[in-house]
Amino acid sequence: MKIYVLNGPNLNMLGVREPEIYGSTTLQEVEGMILSHCNDIGVEVECFQSNHEGALVDIIQDAFYKKIDGIVINPAAYTHTSVAILDALKSTALPYVEIHISNPMEREAFRHISFIRDSAVASVVGKGVGGYIDAVDLLVNYIRGKN
Ligand code: DQA
Repeated sequence: MKIYVLNGPNLNMLGVREPEIYGSTTLQEVEGMILSHCNDIGVEVECFQSNHEGALVDIIQDAFYKKIDGIVINPAAYTHTSVAILDALKSTALPYVEIHISNPMEREAFRHISFIRDSAVASVVGKGVGGYIDAVDLLVNYIRGKN
């Protein structure tokens, strides 16, 4: 099994960016945790971050062509704006889990909408960076349960 873990804009600033909301762990450290966890559970993983909507669309399409089994995605601000990312995810028909470090529902009203929530296998919110591990487990269990 191989999965992608995708991160959207400004998540490369983790560790520096609003630590009272997002904590002090860097993206590199988060990706290290994900790699080590996936190694423990026998899953291949590739992590990718971009500040660009089109680059995220490209990597989602790439997941289809490379026969990736599923996607964990934190689209960051694009969660609340991007029909293109939703369409890309639906185009692949791959299972995906949405993850947010904070809980957008407890923040400003403009963060309450998620374009990708309805088609996701699950959404993990408000668990800090540890939520990425929960999101991976939810996705992997879903895929393993299905196969
Ligand atoms: C976020 C929440 C979004 O509203 C915000 O734009 C982000 C990060 C989170 O992980 O909590 O960039 O997706």
